[in-house]
Amino acid sequence: MAVDFASKEKPYELFDKAKRRGTWDPAAIDLSADVEHWEHGFSDAQREAIMGTFVGFYEGEESVTRTLVPYLTLVDRLEDAPFSTIQMEMFLTTHLFEEAKHTDFFSMYFEEVFDTQETEIDTHESSNYWQNPELKEFLVDDLESVGDRMREVARGGNQREMRYILAEGVMHYMGIVEAQLAKTGYEIFNGVFDEISESMGTEVLPGCQEGLKLIRQDEGRHIANGRWMMRKLAEEDPDIVPTVYEPKIEEYIERLTGRRESQERYDRSYTFDIQELTRTVANDNLQQTIAVIGEEYFERFDADVDIAAANRELSASDD
Ligand SMILES: [Fe+2]
Ligand SMILES: [Fe+2]
Repeated sequence: MAVDFASKEKPYELFDKAKRRGTWDPAAIDLSADVEHWEHGFSDAQREAIMGTFVGFYEGEESVTRTLVPYLTLVDRLEDAPFSTIQMEMFLTTHLFEEAKHTDFFSMYFEEVFDTQETEIDTHESSNYWQNPELKEFLVDDLESVGDRMREVARGGNQREMRYILAEGVMHYMGIVEAQLAKTGYEIFNGVFDEISESMGTEVLPGCQEGLKLIRQDEGRHIANGRWMMRKLAEEDPDIVPTVYEPKIEEYIERLTGRRESQERYDRSYTFDIQELTRTVANDNLQQTIAVIGEEYFERFDADVDIAAANRELSASDD
Protein backbone atom coordinates (compact mmCIF):
# COMPACT_ATOMS: atom_id res chain seq x y z
CA MET A 1 0.00 0.00 0.00
CA ALA A 2 1.27 3.40 -0.90
CA VAL A 3 2.31 5.91 1.72
CA ASP A 4 -0.82 7.44 3.19
CA PHE A 5 0.05 11.13 3.06
CA ALA A 6 -3.05 12.00 5.07
CA SER A 7 -1.56 10.13 8.02
CA LYS A 8 2.14 10.80 7.88
CA GLU A 9 3.92 9.47 10.92
CA LYS A 10 7.09 10.66 12.63
CA PRO A 11 9.38 8.37 10.58
CA TYR A 12 8.01 9.86 7.36
CA GLU A 13 8.60 13.41 8.61
CA LEU A 14 12.16 12.44 9.51
CA PHE A 15 12.62 10.75 6.14
CA ASP A 16 11.44 13.94 4.47
CA LYS A 17 14.02 15.96 6.41
CA ALA A 18 16.73 13.41 5.61
CA LYS A 19 16.08 13.84 1.88
CA ARG A 20 16.97 17.52 2.23
CA ARG A 21 19.54 17.61 5.01
CA GLY A 22 21.15 14.19 4.98
CA THR A 23 22.79 14.37 1.58
CA TRP A 24 26.00 16.24 2.39
CA ASP A 25 29.18 14.84 0.92
CA PRO A 26 32.15 14.03 3.18
CA ALA A 27 34.46 14.46 0.19
CA ALA A 28 33.41 18.11 -0.12
CA ILE A 29 34.81 19.00 3.32
CA ASP A 30 38.18 20.73 3.12
CA LEU A 31 40.70 18.93 5.35
CA SER A 32 43.83 20.88 4.43
CA ALA A 33 43.92 22.94 7.66
CA ASP A 34 43.38 19.75 9.63
CA VAL A 35 46.44 18.16 8.02
CA GLU A 36 48.50 21.20 8.96
CA HIS A 37 47.22 21.21 12.56
CA TRP A 38 47.78 17.51 12.98
CA GLU A 39 51.36 17.74 11.80
CA HIS A 40 52.39 20.78 13.81
CA GLY A 41 49.77 21.80 16.33
CA PHE A 42 49.65 19.20 19.10
CA SER A 43 51.64 17.77 21.94
CA ASP A 44 52.14 13.99 21.92
CA ALA A 45 49.64 13.60 24.76
CA GLN A 46 47.04 15.56 22.81
CA ARG A 47 47.64 13.53 19.66
CA GLU A 48 47.22 10.34 21.58
CA ALA A 49 44.01 11.50 23.24
CA ILE A 50 42.55 12.72 19.93
CA MET A 51 43.52 9.52 18.12
CA GLY A 52 42.05 7.39 20.90
CA THR A 53 38.75 9.20 20.48
CA PHE A 54 38.84 8.96 16.69
CA VAL A 55 39.35 5.20 16.59
CA GLY A 56 36.38 4.88 18.91
CA PHE A 57 34.20 6.93 16.61
CA TYR A 58 35.42 5.11 13.54
CA GLU A 59 34.67 1.71 15.08
CA GLY A 60 31.29 2.96 16.27
CA GLU A 61 30.26 4.26 12.85
CA GLU A 62 31.42 1.12 11.08
CA SER A 63 29.63 -1.03 13.64
CA VAL A 64 26.29 0.78 13.27
CA THR A 65 26.61 0.70 9.47
CA ARG A 66 27.13 -3.07 9.48
CA THR A 67 24.38 -3.93 11.96
CA LEU A 68 21.33 -1.90 10.89
CA VAL A 69 19.96 -4.18 8.16
CA PRO A 70 18.19 -6.67 10.49
CA TYR A 71 16.09 -3.77 11.85
CA LEU A 72 14.69 -3.23 8.37
CA THR A 73 14.10 -6.94 7.89
CA LEU A 74 12.30 -7.29 11.19
CA VAL A 75 10.11 -4.21 10.73
CA ASP A 76 9.13 -5.65 7.37
CA ARG A 77 7.99 -8.91 9.00
CA LEU A 78 5.64 -7.23 11.51
CA GLU A 79 1.93 -7.86 11.08
CA ASP A 80 -0.54 -5.27 12.43
CA ALA A 81 2.39 -3.19 13.57
CA PRO A 82 1.72 -0.22 15.87
CA PHE A 83 3.17 2.04 13.16
CA SER A 84 3.31 2.20 9.37
CA THR A 85 6.02 -0.29 8.45
CA ILE A 86 6.65 1.22 5.01
CA GLN A 87 7.18 4.68 6.48
CA MET A 88 9.54 3.18 9.06
CA GLU A 89 11.47 1.28 6.40
CA MET A 90 11.77 4.41 4.28
CA PHE A 91 13.30 6.28 7.20
CA LEU A 92 15.64 3.39 8.05
CA THR A 93 17.06 3.45 4.52
CA THR A 94 18.15 7.08 5.10
CA HIS A 95 19.53 6.03 8.47
CA LEU A 96 21.57 3.28 6.81
CA PHE A 97 22.86 5.60 4.08
CA GLU A 98 23.83 8.19 6.67
CA GLU A 99 25.82 5.71 8.78
CA ALA A 100 27.67 4.67 5.62
CA LYS A 101 28.38 8.35 4.99
CA HIS A 102 29.75 8.75 8.54
CA THR A 103 32.01 5.74 8.02
CA ASP A 104 33.11 7.37 4.77
CA PHE A 105 33.90 10.65 6.57
CA PHE A 106 36.02 9.02 9.27
CA SER A 107 37.77 6.77 6.71
CA MET A 108 38.74 9.81 4.65
CA TYR A 109 39.88 11.56 7.79
CA PHE A 110 42.22 8.71 8.73
CA GLU A 111 43.57 8.52 5.22
CA GLU A 112 44.05 12.22 4.57
CA VAL A 113 44.80 13.69 7.98
CA PHE A 114 46.31 10.87 10.01
CA ASP A 115 47.91 9.25 6.97
CA THR A 116 46.96 5.79 8.17
CA GLN A 117 44.23 3.22 7.62
CA GLU A 118 44.75 1.82 11.11
CA THR A 119 41.38 2.22 12.79
CA GLU A 120 41.31 -0.84 15.06
CA ILE A 121 40.73 0.03 18.68
CA ASP A 122 43.05 -2.78 19.75
CA THR A 123 46.04 -1.20 18.07
CA HIS A 124 45.51 1.99 20.02
CA GLU A 125 45.54 0.44 23.44
CA SER A 126 47.74 3.21 24.74
CA SER A 127 44.65 5.40 24.66
CA ASN A 128 43.13 5.27 28.13
CA TYR A 129 39.80 6.16 26.64
CA TRP A 130 39.53 2.58 25.36
CA GLN A 131 40.72 0.82 28.46
CA ASN A 132 37.15 0.12 29.41
CA PRO A 133 36.70 -3.12 27.44
CA GLU A 134 33.00 -3.10 28.23
CA LEU A 135 32.60 -0.10 25.98
CA LYS A 136 34.03 -1.81 22.94
CA GLU A 137 32.08 -4.97 23.69
CA PHE A 138 28.79 -3.10 23.99
CA LEU A 139 29.47 -0.97 20.92
CA VAL A 140 30.76 -3.63 18.54
CA ASP A 141 30.34 -7.25 19.69
CA ASP A 142 26.98 -6.96 21.42
CA LEU A 143 25.45 -4.83 18.68
CA GLU A 144 26.41 -7.56 16.26
CA SER A 145 24.97 -10.34 18.40
CA VAL A 146 21.66 -8.49 18.89
CA GLY A 147 21.56 -8.18 15.08
CA ASP A 148 22.21 -11.92 14.67
CA ARG A 149 19.38 -12.77 17.05
CA MET A 150 17.11 -10.36 15.17
CA ARG A 151 17.84 -12.18 11.91
CA GLU A 152 17.00 -15.54 13.51
CA VAL A 153 13.72 -14.29 14.97
CA ALA A 154 12.82 -12.63 11.65
CA ARG A 155 13.11 -16.07 10.04
CA GLY A 156 11.33 -18.26 12.56
CA GLY A 157 9.87 -16.24 15.43
CA ASN A 158 6.29 -15.34 16.24
CA GLN A 159 4.96 -11.79 16.23
CA ARG A 160 5.51 -11.27 19.95
CA GLU A 161 9.13 -12.47 19.74
CA MET A 162 9.70 -10.15 16.80
CA ARG A 163 8.47 -7.14 18.72
CA TYR A 164 10.56 -7.99 21.82
CA ILE A 165 13.81 -8.51 19.93
CA LEU A 166 13.17 -5.38 17.85
CA ALA A 167 12.60 -3.43 21.07
CA GLU A 168 15.84 -4.80 22.52
CA GLY A 169 17.78 -3.88 19.39
CA VAL A 170 16.35 -0.36 19.24
CA MET A 171 17.14 0.32 22.91
CA HIS A 172 20.67 -1.01 22.45
CA TYR A 173 21.38 0.78 19.16
CA MET A 174 19.39 4.02 19.13
CA GLY A 175 18.64 4.28 22.86
CA ILE A 176 22.14 3.66 24.20
CA VAL A 177 24.83 3.51 21.51
CA GLU A 178 23.49 6.60 19.72
CA ALA A 179 21.61 8.56 22.39
CA GLN A 180 24.05 7.88 25.23
CA LEU A 181 27.51 6.91 24.05
CA ALA A 182 27.81 8.82 20.77
CA LYS A 183 26.10 11.95 22.01
CA THR A 184 28.27 12.13 25.10
CA GLY A 185 31.35 11.43 23.01
CA TYR A 186 30.58 14.29 20.62
CA GLU A 187 30.09 16.68 23.52
CA ILE A 188 33.46 15.70 24.97
CA PHE A 189 35.01 16.18 21.53
CA ASN A 190 33.53 19.68 21.37
CA GLY A 191 34.85 20.56 24.81
CA VAL A 192 38.32 19.33 23.89
CA PHE A 193 38.28 21.24 20.59
CA ASP A 194 37.12 24.47 22.22
CA GLU A 195 39.89 24.25 24.72
CA ILE A 196 42.64 23.49 22.20
CA SER A 197 41.27 26.18 19.83
CA GLU A 198 41.58 28.72 22.59
CA SER A 199 45.16 27.80 23.40
CA MET A 200 46.13 27.75 19.69
CA GLY A 201 44.34 31.02 18.96
CA THR A 202 42.62 29.51 15.89
CA GLU A 203 39.77 27.11 15.25
CA VAL A 204 41.37 23.70 15.58
CA LEU A 205 40.72 20.92 13.02
CA PRO A 206 37.97 22.89 11.23
CA GLY A 207 37.22 20.09 8.73
CA CYS A 208 36.63 17.66 11.55
CA GLN A 209 34.38 20.13 13.33
CA GLU A 210 32.39 20.69 10.15
CA GLY A 211 31.97 16.94 9.63
CA LEU A 212 30.94 16.39 13.24
CA LYS A 213 28.34 19.14 13.04
CA LEU A 214 26.73 17.45 10.03
CA ILE A 215 27.00 13.99 11.58
CA ARG A 216 25.27 15.20 14.72
CA GLN A 217 22.33 16.54 12.70
CA ASP A 218 21.93 13.10 11.11
CA GLU A 219 22.24 11.41 14.49
CA GLY A 220 19.49 13.59 15.91
CA ARG A 221 17.04 12.05 13.44
CA HIS A 222 18.21 8.49 14.17
CA ILE A 223 17.71 9.00 17.89
CA ALA A 224 14.32 10.70 17.47
CA ASN A 225 13.07 7.82 15.33
CA GLY A 226 14.42 5.18 17.70
CA ARG A 227 12.73 6.77 20.70
CA TRP A 228 9.47 7.08 18.77
CA MET A 229 9.56 3.42 17.75
CA MET A 230 10.25 2.37 21.35
CA ARG A 231 7.25 4.41 22.44
CA LYS A 232 4.96 2.80 19.86
CA LEU A 233 6.08 -0.70 20.89
CA ALA A 234 5.49 0.18 24.57
CA GLU A 235 2.03 1.59 23.88
CA GLU A 236 1.06 -1.64 22.17
CA ASP A 237 2.52 -3.88 24.88
CA PRO A 238 3.54 -2.02 28.07
CA ASP A 239 5.19 -5.17 29.43
CA ILE A 240 7.99 -4.58 26.97
CA VAL A 241 9.28 -1.77 29.24
CA PRO A 242 10.11 -3.77 32.41
CA THR A 243 11.01 -6.87 30.37
CA VAL A 244 13.26 -5.31 27.74
CA TYR A 245 13.96 -1.59 28.14
CA GLU A 246 14.68 -1.43 31.84
CA PRO A 247 17.11 -4.38 32.00
CA LYS A 248 19.01 -2.88 29.03
CA ILE A 249 19.24 0.50 30.77
CA GLU A 250 20.42 -1.24 33.93
CA GLU A 251 23.07 -3.11 31.98
CA TYR A 252 24.26 0.16 30.47
CA ILE A 253 24.49 1.87 33.83
CA GLU A 254 26.32 -1.02 35.46
CA ARG A 255 28.70 -1.90 32.66
CA LEU A 256 29.44 1.42 31.04
CA THR A 257 29.20 4.06 33.69
CA GLY A 258 30.56 2.07 36.61
CA ARG A 259 34.18 2.73 35.74
CA ARG A 260 35.49 6.22 35.76
CA GLU A 261 39.23 5.68 35.88
CA SER A 262 39.38 5.70 32.07
CA GLN A 263 38.52 9.38 32.17
CA GLU A 264 41.55 10.31 34.23
CA ARG A 265 43.73 11.16 31.26
CA TYR A 266 41.23 13.74 30.13
CA ASP A 267 40.99 15.16 33.59
CA ARG A 268 44.70 15.71 33.60
CA SER A 269 44.94 17.08 30.08
CA TYR A 270 42.06 19.54 30.04
CA THR A 271 40.78 22.18 32.38
CA PHE A 272 37.04 21.72 31.96
CA ASP A 273 35.35 19.09 34.08
CA ILE A 274 34.89 16.16 31.75
CA GLN A 275 33.16 14.01 34.32
CA GLU A 276 30.63 16.71 35.01
CA LEU A 277 30.01 17.13 31.27
CA THR A 278 29.59 13.38 30.81
CA ARG A 279 27.15 13.18 33.70
CA THR A 280 25.07 16.08 32.47
CA VAL A 281 24.84 14.99 28.84
CA ALA A 282 24.29 11.32 29.64
CA ASN A 283 21.66 12.12 32.28
CA ASP A 284 19.78 14.55 30.01
CA ASN A 285 19.66 12.05 27.20
CA LEU A 286 18.56 9.12 29.30
CA GLN A 287 15.87 11.30 30.86
CA GLN A 288 14.65 12.31 27.39
CA THR A 289 14.55 8.70 26.21
CA ILE A 290 12.44 7.69 29.22
CA ALA A 291 10.17 10.72 28.82
CA VAL A 292 9.53 10.01 25.13
CA ILE A 293 8.80 6.31 25.71
CA GLY A 294 6.45 7.28 28.56
CA GLU A 295 7.56 7.51 32.17
CA GLU A 296 4.32 5.83 33.24
CA TYR A 297 5.46 2.51 31.76
CA PHE A 298 8.65 2.37 33.81
CA GLU A 299 8.93 0.56 37.14
CA ARG A 300 12.58 1.03 38.06
CA PHE A 301 13.45 4.37 36.50
CA ASP A 302 11.72 7.68 35.93
CA ALA A 303 12.35 10.74 33.82
CA ASP A 304 14.42 12.28 36.64
CA VAL A 305 16.84 9.36 36.61
CA ASP A 306 20.33 10.22 37.82
CA ILE A 307 22.86 7.78 36.42
CA ALA A 308 25.37 8.16 39.25
CA ALA A 309 22.70 7.58 41.91
CA ALA A 310 21.23 4.63 39.98
CA ASN A 311 24.71 3.17 39.70
CA ARG A 312 25.23 3.38 43.47
CA GLU A 313 21.85 1.72 44.06
CA LEU A 314 22.59 -1.06 41.58
CA SER A 315 25.99 -1.82 43.08
CA ALA A 316 24.53 -1.74 46.61
CA SER A 317 21.90 -4.31 45.56
CA ASP A 318 24.70 -6.60 44.24
CA ASP A 319 26.31 -6.83 47.70
FE1 LIG B 1 26.63 7.73 12.67
FE1 LIG C 1 23.31 7.14 13.80
